[in-house]
Amino acid sequence: MIPSGLLGALLTFSHYVLAVQPGSPSPIPAKLRDIQWGKLNFLHTTDTHGWLAGHLQEPSYSADWGDYISLATRMREQAESQGWDLLVIDTGDRVEGNGLYDSSDPKGKYLYDILKQQPIDLLCSGNHELYKQNTSETEFLTNVPNFMDSYIASNIDIIDPNSAKLVPLGPRFKKFTTKKQGYRIMAFGFLFDFIGNYNNTRVQRVEDAVKESWFQEAIHDDEIDLFIVLGHVPVRSEEYQAVHEEIRNARGNIPIQFFGGHFHIRDYARYDTHSSGLASGRFMETIGFLSIDDVKSTAPNFSRRYIDNNLFSFYHHTGLNETNFSTNHGRNVSHMIQHARHALDLDYVHGCAPKTLWVDRTPYPSSDSVYTWLETEVLPQSIRNPLRDGTSALAVVNTGAIRFDIFKGPFTQDSTFIVSPFTSGFKYIKDVPYTTAKRIVALLNGQTKIFTASAQHPHTSYCPLAPPEQCAYQSGNMATKDRQTAYLQRTSQQHGQAIISLEVESDPQYFPGYTTIDDAGDDGDDTIHSSVSFYQVPNVIPTLIHPHSTQVGEEDLDSSEEPSTVDLVYVDFIEPYIALAAKFSGLDVNLPQDSDVYMDGVTLTHLIENWIKKNWKCDEATS
Ligand SMILES: *[C@@H]1O[C@H](CO)[C@@H](O)[C@H](O)[C@H]1NC(C)=O
Ligand SMILES: *[C@@H]1O[C@H](CO)[C@@H](O)[C@H](O)[C@H]1NC(C)=O
Ligand SMILES: *[C@@H]1O[C@H](CO)[C@@H](O)[C@H](O)[C@H]1NC(C)=O
Ligand SMILES: *[C@@H]1O[C@H](CO)[C@@H](O)[C@H](O)[C@H]1NC(C)=O
Ligand SMILES: *[C@@H]1O[C@H](CO)[C@@H](O)[C@H](O)[C@H]1NC(C)=O
Ligand SMILES: *[C@@H]1O[C@H](CO)[C@@H](O)[C@H](O)[C@H]1NC(C)=O
Repeated sequence: MIPSGLLGALLTFSHYVLAVQPGSPSPIPAKLRDIQWGKLNFLHTTDTHGWLAGHLQEPSYSADWGDYISLATRMREQAESQGWDLLVIDTGDRVEGNGLYDSSDPKGKYLYDILKQQPIDLLCSGNHELYKQNTSETEFLTNVPNFMDSYIASNIDIIDPNSAKLVPLGPRFKKFTTKKQGYRIMAFGFLFDFIGNYNNTRVQRVEDAVKESWFQEAIHDDEIDLFIVLGHVPVRSEEYQAVHEEIRNARGNIPIQFFGGHFHIRDYARYDTHSSGLASGRFMETIGFLSIDDVKSTAPNFSRRYIDNNLFSFYHHTGLNETNFSTNHGRNVSHMIQHARHALDLDYVHGCAPKTLWVDRTPYPSSDSVYTWLETEVLPQSIRNPLRDGTSALAVVNTGAIRFDIFKGPFTQDSTFIVSPFTSGFKYIKDVPYTTAKRIVALLNGQTKIFTASAQHPHTSYCPLAPPEQCAYQSGNMATKDRQTAYLQRTSQQHGQAIISLEVESDPQYFPGYTTIDDAGDDGDDTIHSSVSFYQVPNVIPTLIHPHSTQVGEEDLDSSEEPSTVDLVYVDFIEPYIALAAKFSGLDVNLPQDSDVYMDGVTLTHLIENWIKKNWKCDEATS
């Protein structure tokens, strides 16, 4: 074991000037846990979704991609000066979810050049790189060449737009030797068993890919000290079980380190004494750190740390300060980001939110829930089709269509894409009996077993309708807090005593943030936070919209009466699920033939933006 030379003391900086995106908040000094260096060390990001500018409204996550480049550079220098290695990993979903990617034309105009500034040793694709033909083609023609043989695609093929031939998106594996320790590594890069991709790409099931002869040859290579399996795959998943089993059966006790993502959570899984899996959150909130000391030992020591993405943490873990932390290159990249944000006018203010609205940090329904706001204010006032004015509508929006919280204060051009980046419009089925429409909603929300148990259902095990983290909480309808309590009970039963203490919660010197519990305990987060609860939200929210009265703004007199039929209006992303639920509820329709566009050219994103422009004026109280 190699002790960290760094102090875990509570530092007392009162003031930081160097959050690099102008206007981003200074980090709040906090008590930190140190990282434990090993001979082999990793930094890991996942599900960054374009947040390369960091979070401009949250001090804990205010560092940007330029700062991350400085962090990786400094840590690499420090590791190498000791004769150790550092590898940088990214596991996909780099696109969709932030103005820096979504608001340019073409999308990602600035993103790929910024991304490639970080020397990433191993990366792979997520599902978001594959929803649209031009997104995956840009990945293939720009991002893969930017990273060359570091970009691994073990189970993805693409139709090459130049040759029209189906080819691997990137190399299937990478074999290399680390610079200092000379570890011989075989790396694979997977995507979970995704089926929502556009038809110009092919995703092979992971369970099938591991039976391919190239994979079998690769795992039987004798000259390997460590397998690295990266993937846009949850660390607790059938896919990773299959990979683990295949390698373990072939290779006895060789260490295997997995890196995963997709669920947007911090998580760490131990599969056996020589293997583990790290998931490093989402949206540039988390820089995952992992060390193995040592790969060749009979009992390798694995150590993980979830670093909050801010300069206070970065200075601490490198032992540097604002005069000597950032590198020229890191600063240049921060300027590239600033330039792009400026060119895209991402700070343009559309309105000011009178209060904070949460995705899942508050129960639904409740006055602080973004979904309650949508269903009571935005949708009833915005869903309109002049040709269907006499007919009630039941508008169905999947909760996953809203990606992030809305903070009290300025709602900017950037916020628009952060909250709702998707380009789905609204479609509808005419004159559906209201009871049937309600049954469809109940089915979509999993209130009967038929739907979730259905083998034909497009990948329910990945909860495609809800925000991804919901899938991780899903062991029953409970908040993470309860999941943690359940974990504590389980742990205390297994070990005879509770190994976890949550007493920090009552201490006023801690502020809210991640308090992760994983297979290595409750000490993974670098910053010691008080805990935040997360709540279950349904897959979809239905909003009944009555035919609107002649006088704008007047309550419809009959609003308490239920209609006998409605137009079933839905976000077109969920059409395959509507089709299946319709079938189970006896509605005789053929989709997409029997559906129509409800609001021409209007997306949920437009609708929210327009509502905010009209209703959330900025004044002294909110700005
Ligand atoms: C692994 O690291 C932990 C944390 O520093 C230490 O307590 C433990 O003794 C180490 N185990 C081995 C086998 O080196
Ligand atoms: C893909 O096409 C859409 C529609 O034309 C466009 O808005 C988007 O910017 C394109 N994306 C890329 C990555 O070229
Ligand atoms: C992909 O789907 C489009 C319709 O969206 C169809 O026109 C095209 O032929 C399909 N291509 C392949 C290769 O299946
Ligand atoms: C950077 O600053 C820190 C804090 O003052 C100091 O301890 C360290 O020696 C400096 N490191 C270098 C490389 O200048
Ligand atoms: C950072 O560290 C350097 C080197 O130790 C020191 O000269 C400088 O004053 C420190 N800066 C701050 C702001 O603490
Ligand atoms: C930083 O940017 C400046 C000005 O564009 C350039 O001259 C310099 O080479 C860059 N340095 C690094 C390390 O990227």
